[in-house]
Amino acid sequence: MDWMFPFGRLAQGGDVVDREVYMKDLILRLQSGQSAIIAGPRRMGKSSVAREILRQLQTQGHYVASVDLFAADSVDHFASLLMQSLLENRLGAVRQGMQTFTSLLHWLGRPDVRTRIGELEIGVQFPVDASPHDQLISVLAWGEKMAAKAGKTLVVLFDEFQDVQRLGGDALIKKMRAAMQTLEHTSFLFLGSQPSLMKTLFADRRQAFYRFATFLPLPPIPEAAWQAYVEGRLEQQGLTITAPAMQLLLDKTGGHPYGMMGVVSFAYFLAKIADVTRIDADTVSVADAQMMDHLSAVYDQQLREIRRVSHADEVCMRVIEHQPPYGAPYARSVVSKALSHLMDSGLIFKLAARGHYTITEPMFARWMREKRS
Ligand SMILES: Nc1ncnc2c1ncn2[C@@H]1O[C@H](COP(=O)(O)OP(=O)(O)OP(=O)(O)O)[C@@H](O)[C@H]1O
Ligand SMILES: [Mg+2]
Repeated sequence: MDWMFPFGRLAQGGDVVDREVYMKDLILRLQSGQSAIIAGPRRMGKSSVAREILRQLQTQGHYVASVDLFAADSVDHFASLLMQSLLENRLGAVRQGMQTFTSLLHWLGRPDVRTRIGELEIGVQFPVDASPHDQLISVLAWGEKMAAKAGKTLVVLFDEFQDVQRLGGDALIKKMRAAMQTLEHTSFLFLGSQPSLMKTLFADRRQAFYRFATFLPLPPIPEAAWQAYVEGRLEQQGLTITAPAMQLLLDKTGGHPYGMMGVVSFAYFLAKIADVTRIDADTVSVADAQMMDHLSAVYDQQLREIRRVSHADEVCMRVIEHQPPYGAPYARSVVSKALSHLMDSGLIFKLAARGHYTITEPMFARWMREKRS
């Protein structure tokens, strides 16, 4: 397959821009048994960075496992997905699609599979009549045992972890936390796309995940890093980009990872199709319009979500225009509700200065402005 910019898929390896220090820090923490949380707004690169970390840990000989909780439709399914991922450390790619834990146990009971798993003694650990919550806890304990036996560290990634609330509510959260805290060979990497929900899970005393895992927010990617990456990659493909075009690319996307990859990828194909070796500002403008077109369906949906809370679209506009969000004609309580809603959806976030907010995705800000006029 020909190389292309990672647009519409996670960035991997050399396409993960400017995260070396961040990843090194996380890898050190995880392999020494500390758990961590990457909570951040949408499409900032949480999953890309986490997958790359897992890939590196695996290359270093550690055990790894991952579950995207968004893909689980019940606790039972969650347990099955986690167990399948754990087994892959021993068996290589495991047959996918076992929706229930019972069907997985059934598969594990087959003589040929038993031989492959060897000394890991699976059957006895999972009584068939246990509740899905308890099965999930036993899977965690089983992973720990597997790691301990092999003298390895196991790193488990839970992507979209806020969905644990949807799957099993507070009861499951409590149970998982209690179990996870006792594991000595397993560390966890939690990702979440809804900052405020992640905060509830980890920072609220009553939920008390807060002692257990460290928050590590993803910093923005500096312009210089984008420039070096884009120019380097294009050069490998026999292409160049003019200085004004590079600047336009940064200005149009605000350096937001998803927008950046989208626009540069459209520009790359435009140059290829036109059979030119230089990307100029005109090409970037066309690419930007194509990306906006691509995003409009997503943004339409986003706006519908915003409008579920009254006046949230107006409050969002104020944030976009760098105006103070509070003020006439809306009551404080209305604005405050709107701000919470916008933060929960990951569309805006709080700045260090009190009462200041900013928009997550510069391209969304531009789309809102254009829609308005
Ligand atoms: N460090 C990076 N270098 C290059 N591209 C990146 C980087 N991080 C993210 N991207 C680009 O942004 C896109 C979105 O990233 P990713 O899916 O990892 O973000 P996310 O925070 O997990 O998003 P979501 O909130 O939707 O789960 C990727 O498909 C990739 O194109
Ligand atoms: Mg993600």
